[in-house]
Amino acid sequence: MDTVKVGLLGFGTVGTGVVRNLQINRELLQQRLHRDLVLTRIATRDVNRDRGVELEPGVLTSDIDEVIANPEIDIVIELIGGDEPAKSYILKAIANGKHIVTANKALMAVHGQEIIAAADQQGVSVMFEAAVAGGIPIISAIKENLCSNKFSSVLGILNGTCNFILTKMSQEGSDFAPVLQEAQDLGYAEADPTFDIEGVDTAHKIALLAALCFGTSVDFDKIYTEGISKVSAIDIQFAEQMGYTVKLLAIGKNHDDQIEVRVHPTMIPKTYQLAQINGVFNAVRLIGDFAGPTLLYGSGAGMDATASAVMGDVMAVSRDLTTGGKPRVPILGYNADAIRNLPIMEMGEVVSHYYLRFTTADQTSVLAKISGCLGNHDISIQSMLQPEVREINSVSIVIMTHEAKEADINAALAEIEQLDVVLQPTCLIRVENAPL
Ligand code: HSE
Repeated sequence: MDTVKVGLLGFGTVGTGVVRNLQINRELLQQRLHRDLVLTRIATRDVNRDRGVELEPGVLTSDIDEVIANPEIDIVIELIGGDEPAKSYILKAIANGKHIVTANKALMAVHGQEIIAAADQQGVSVMFEAAVAGGIPIISAIKENLCSNKFSSVLGILNGTCNFILTKMSQEGSDFAPVLQEAQDLGYAEADPTFDIEGVDTAHKIALLAALCFGTSVDFDKIYTEGISKVSAIDIQFAEQMGYTVKLLAIGKNHDDQIEVRVHPTMIPKTYQLAQINGVFNAVRLIGDFAGPTLLYGSGAGMDATASAVMGDVMAVSRDLTTGGKPRVPILGYNADAIRNLPIMEMGEVVSHYYLRFTTADQTSVLAKISGCLGNHDISIQSMLQPEVREINSVSIVIMTHEAKEADINAALAEIEQLDVVLQPTCLIRVENAPL
């Protein structure tokens, strides 16, 4: 049987999963590919660590060039992560004619254009299914199975750490800090959880999904990114009373001349399927003009789920190799000359419903003053809640607005916060409640 030779850069958790998949499912992979996938070299800084998998002698090396400059190797799997040196290694491997499979969302979201241009020039593939939502085959769904659709939106719960924390806060009424600690104790959250909880990891992933769905470059720095560290138990409880759940939602919408790409805590109706995605699971909802709404759900992280995505890409590239080696599907699913440079809509232009919680003095006319400021900026109130339980000298007033432009909301809030009866900064959560 012919072989396809694979090299691995980085030998951490996902790399170990890849080795396990190649070993445990070797026969299945052969049956599906009619080739033998051979892991020829693994480059790692730590060649002595026991990862619980057995390797042929000579496979492990600390010399990167034994992978990226090895004439035998067809496919390089990059699992180092981060910016440099991963980027330089990938570019060097591409220059050497290697096909690339990577799980590196940060690299692809920020430097994807440069990497894709280099790969297109060389006529090699860059596959990154594992970069978004772990084991969920969302990228191949967009690029292949749903490729006859024009997508109007893509919504995602793309960070398991945040979804675990928000689910716990919602189910147990707990505050953010102790639940983050629990997530860290359980190994779901990193020792430094900043990228996850501040939404950066989610922003990397929606940058890639928006590019794939809408056929455009996406300027990562222009993505509005707000994490969950300021979400409080009280807002989750009010959301619950109003029929909503709070999720860290990644939002991509196509307006043809521009796109919306944003990440922030979002209230969604409890009746949305996305509202049922709990714990560390991920989900993505696409709306295509022919397929309609499609929801993909599954494990967003972890050794085996992420290895499954990596190996799916390795199999796809290997199949291309068996039929001549040219990539069958363009890297972003569009021909390179069809990729646009659509701008990302400024946040002030975004139209949404808004949940606003004011902390005010318990006096006459407070509500009239607040609603007056909202009215001054054409913001219409959809519903209101003023719970009886209150702090000694203050009261919470919760207002859900009809659709409003964010710039108008900001102008109204600036006025409201000047009122002497308003005691604290307003808490704002955007609401996504378009009918399904
Ligand atoms: N840290 C991510 C999460 C997984 O919590 O979902 C890798 O992207």
